[in-house]
Amino acid sequence: MLKLGVLASGRGSNFQAIIDSIEAGALRAKIELLIVDKSDAYAIERAKKHSIEHLFINSKEFSSKGAFFSSIKDELIKRGVELVVLAGFMRVVKKPLIDAYTNRIINIHPALLPAFPGLHGQRQAVEYGVKISGCTVHFVDEGMDTGPVIIQAAVPVCSEDTEESLSARILMQEHRILPEAIRLYSEGRLKVEGRRVVISSPTDEGCCIINPMLG
Ligand code: GRF
Repeated sequence: MLKLGVLASGRGSNFQAIIDSIEAGALRAKIELLIVDKSDAYAIERAKKHSIEHLFINSKEFSSKGAFFSSIKDELIKRGVELVVLAGFMRVVKKPLIDAYTNRIINIHPALLPAFPGLHGQRQAVEYGVKISGCTVHFVDEGMDTGPVIIQAAVPVCSEDTEESLSARILMQEHRILPEAIRLYSEGRLKVEGRRVVISSPTDEGCCIINPMLG
């Protein structure tokens, strides 16, 4: 059973989607630990409800970002975590964690990368006027949302859309593709070849997930 460590900063609906997927039997994994960098993150309540160990690690108690991420790494390693999932974790991950978990950290981003990296991907999409946006699960490297793409889902952007309405539409897809990417990882089907992530058989389901809404 794949051992997961989840990092979150806020609401934790993607964290919940992972929990739900495990509880529904769709994902063979166990969440060993939730780490939050905000003491009031609602994700903590979700962890409590599902008896998942949780830890608040306060960045202010460390002399550098490196030391902060080193402490996170130690907690994950201590519990034998094999895959780290960033589920709404609002920080750029630094070297000590990247080096210990190379190609074993994944992130969910609310845009079709490489478009609209960084904060407010949904707002950027509305303001730019794109007709299609979506979400991306990718491996994490030292850049800002720059690592190899695992899977993406597309959603239409309508002329009436606001940041809020588009965020809601994208979030539904986030909750679908994040557990899906973890499942592919847990089945040993993801291989990183340079910038590309090759998804191995039995099917090609992961290579091009298109939202049926787009027809
Ligand atoms: C999501 O939109 C995620 O893509 C982004 O931050 C948001 C977190 O939402 N990185 P939640 O905390 O999982 O509800």
